[in-house]
Amino acid sequence: MRSPQGQGRDIFATGIGAFTATVGSAIGLGNIWKFPYLTGSNGGAAFVLAYLACVALVGLPIMVAEHAIGRRTRLNAVQAYGSIIPGKRAWSVIGWAGLLSAVLIMAFYTDVAGWVFAYVPKSIAAFARGSVLGPADFGALAGGTWEPILWQAGVIALTAAIVAAGVSKGIERVTKVLMPLLFVLLVVCDVRALTLPGAGAGVAYLFTPDLTKLTGPVLLSALGLAFFKLSLGMGTMTTYGSYLPAATRIAPNAARVALADTAVSILAGLAIFPTVFAFGGAPAGGPGLLFNTIPLVFSKMPLGGLFTALFFVLTAVATIGAMVSLMEVPVAWLSEKAKMSRPRAGALTGAAMLALGLLATLSQGPVLGGVKILGKNFFDLFDYASSNLLLPLGGIAIAIVAGWLLARKDFVGELDKGYRGPRAFNAALAGIVKFLAPVLIAVILLNSLGILRLA
Ligand code: PHE
Repeated sequence: MRSPQGQGRDIFATGIGAFTATVGSAIGLGNIWKFPYLTGSNGGAAFVLAYLACVALVGLPIMVAEHAIGRRTRLNAVQAYGSIIPGKRAWSVIGWAGLLSAVLIMAFYTDVAGWVFAYVPKSIAAFARGSVLGPADFGALAGGTWEPILWQAGVIALTAAIVAAGVSKGIERVTKVLMPLLFVLLVVCDVRALTLPGAGAGVAYLFTPDLTKLTGPVLLSALGLAFFKLSLGMGTMTTYGSYLPAATRIAPNAARVALADTAVSILAGLAIFPTVFAFGGAPAGGPGLLFNTIPLVFSKMPLGGLFTALFFVLTAVATIGAMVSLMEVPVAWLSEKAKMSRPRAGALTGAAMLALGLLATLSQGPVLGGVKILGKNFFDLFDYASSNLLLPLGGIAIAIVAGWLLARKDFVGELDKGYRGPRAFNAALAGIVKFLAPVLIAVILLNSLGILRLA
């Protein structure tokens, strides 16, 4: 079904294209950097368990809802939510909040992406010197002033250029080849990490849950990570849903995306934690965990420095797919609704992202390191406000639109397109979107704010 406004928009040519593009948005720093870092800071396996439950019970149903809304309207997120329920334009607020989330996320995401890009030449230089990058190198980069800013500005400019040129298709083709390579390299890392002496403690850390660790804030982090990793709650998946072919079966496609995304996270965890324990490090290493651990795993392999560089090249590629999808939310809206040219829209969005991004980046070093708002520096504040507040709240609103306001036959009908499995399945899924998912999000939010006392 195509709305009149939606005519002439691109649609992924094939179901495979729809799958790889969605995976390209989902897999990124969330898997490789954030999942291990949060797992380490939140006590290990109990967090992983909570995270997996959030993906299955909340993430997957919300992804299904977003894809259904996007495909039904075939519009960018702001206009999709403004028009899906006739006479209820106010729901476009989901799209507006999504624009804000996209900018907030990009502000710290591009800082970390800048570190990833910087680690490519740095690993090669370290290899040439015969040394291994260590925590001092990471500290100098992240805590610096001009160096991280230049990398960040470069990353934003690159993403804006890709989005502006509308060449995401070309990027998808590159991603399609390189993502499987990242997967293979992660498996190589895992084999090396798991065979290090003392690796067992890392595996236990990841898979033997101590349920007393499940406090309110830990649960909220797990929920926020599920939203962040699957690119949910802010319109990215709605926008991608608007490009889905009519024949794509929404639920199985979403399930495959969630599985692939989870697999990559677990593979990253299996590279990091065994290594951390084998080298006697601390799992709660904070945002630098990835950067301080990966060079160590490879240091125990022939040509390790070059493999480290390759690892960061492939991570950078994964990062680009995610950043393109983040920037696409404001750019699609600016170009479709405000009729701005894509290059202008890209430049404007990039400038906004850089402005906030500078605050995030400088808050890691001496310039703004001392500025705390609600006890958090800008980097952590932007992360917390987006992942732990805006995205889950967006998730509740999306569940209300799909589960309560959209006619049931329209919602389930969208899921039924191309679907030949048991009828009851999509109806049950719609029930989860209507009741279980929003209630779980609300309980976890209220519990963490101390309004409800569960854990
Ligand atoms: N899911 C991406 C990642 O894991 C980040 C992202 C969040 C992308 C929200 C789009 C929207 O890296």
